[in-house]
Amino acid sequence: MQFKLHHTDQKSDARAGTITTDHGKINTPIFMPVGTIGTVKGVHQAELKEQVKAQIILGNTYHLYLRPGMETMEAAGGLHKFMNWNGPILTDSGGYQVFSLAHRRKITEEGATFASHIDGSRHLFSPESSLGIQRSIGADIVMAFDECPPYPSTREYAKNSMDLTHRWLERCVTFMNETSPKYGHSQALFPIVQGSSFDDLRTKSCEFIASQDQPGNAIGGLSVGEPIEDMYRISKLCCDVLPKDKPRYLMGVGTPANIIECISRGVDMFDCVLPSRNARHGVIYTRNGIMNMKNAKWRTDFSPIDDRPDAAPTSQTHTKAYLAHLFRVGELLGPQLATLHNLAFYLSLVTEAREHIIEGDFADWAASVLPGLERKL
Ligand code: GUN
Repeated sequence: MQFKLHHTDQKSDARAGTITTDHGKINTPIFMPVGTIGTVKGVHQAELKEQVKAQIILGNTYHLYLRPGMETMEAAGGLHKFMNWNGPILTDSGGYQVFSLAHRRKITEEGATFASHIDGSRHLFSPESSLGIQRSIGADIVMAFDECPPYPSTREYAKNSMDLTHRWLERCVTFMNETSPKYGHSQALFPIVQGSSFDDLRTKSCEFIASQDQPGNAIGGLSVGEPIEDMYRISKLCCDVLPKDKPRYLMGVGTPANIIECISRGVDMFDCVLPSRNARHGVIYTRNGIMNMKNAKWRTDFSPIDDRPDAAPTSQTHTKAYLAHLFRVGELLGPQLATLHNLAFYLSLVTEAREHIIEGDFADWAASVLPGLERKL
């Protein structure tokens, strides 16, 4: 994996770059649709490419390990072949999902033990097993096994957890150095900064993560319930310490406005379930504001869902009234059109941000779009 930085904005820390993987290039800043269990829910792969214009998608170690399991994954020849997606894939390492989904979790120096949320069976994830599973999945970018402390955490808990994440990272690096990819394409390890909302811990964590000299770096432990100012302050602090010549990935963030704010603080990569999950509940993002399609006021609005030329083609050809109807009667096409819309919206937003970084007027553009993104329609 290579990263080339093309432009840094004069009035902010926004950057435009290109990541090159064996499955293709990714223009940054980028939003990565979440395909937890081998599918971006409700969107098939041709739509992901042609309508959403996704450049990279996410998979999850935790979910794919439980189902279909690594025997099937390896027999399929890895996740790219299994799901027929030949673009880049990034996998999260499983720790975060163990803490949000699994039962009877316990952390030890060795790793995290948990009971599956599906059948209660007991498992252990360690830095080595997480990366071993990510080798079997065959993602282009693999994440270090970390602990994401809950918010709020005491300073003592956050420090112990950060130190453990750092010791686990050393084991991840050793494992990556001592093993090889399974399918002929290379896999890049991204370490994850932790340290909760404590500035000094975050600085220490960034310095340690940077010292491991991996191809990219991630900021974890944010968007876990902290005030928005904390998220922005920690994002900026981390971007100021992390190396400039490597991509920076802010995990699990966020709303369209959060993404623009964090691009301006130096973040290059984002993922979040928000656009796809909210779409399934009828929540639609546009440049003019956020619409809830379950609201009766849309039932007689025969204007397009979104008439911008960069909106999903189906958002330009179907009306708000039709989408509101689909949600009202519980038809499958409602969540499908809404998901296509929101993901294409997120991709068009980061694509336009990139164009303005390159043109040199990103800060003015960001200030002009932010009020519309937050409005409730
Ligand atoms: N997704 C969102 N936040 C995190 C985090 O802190 N760690 C990991 N591994 N995944 C995340």
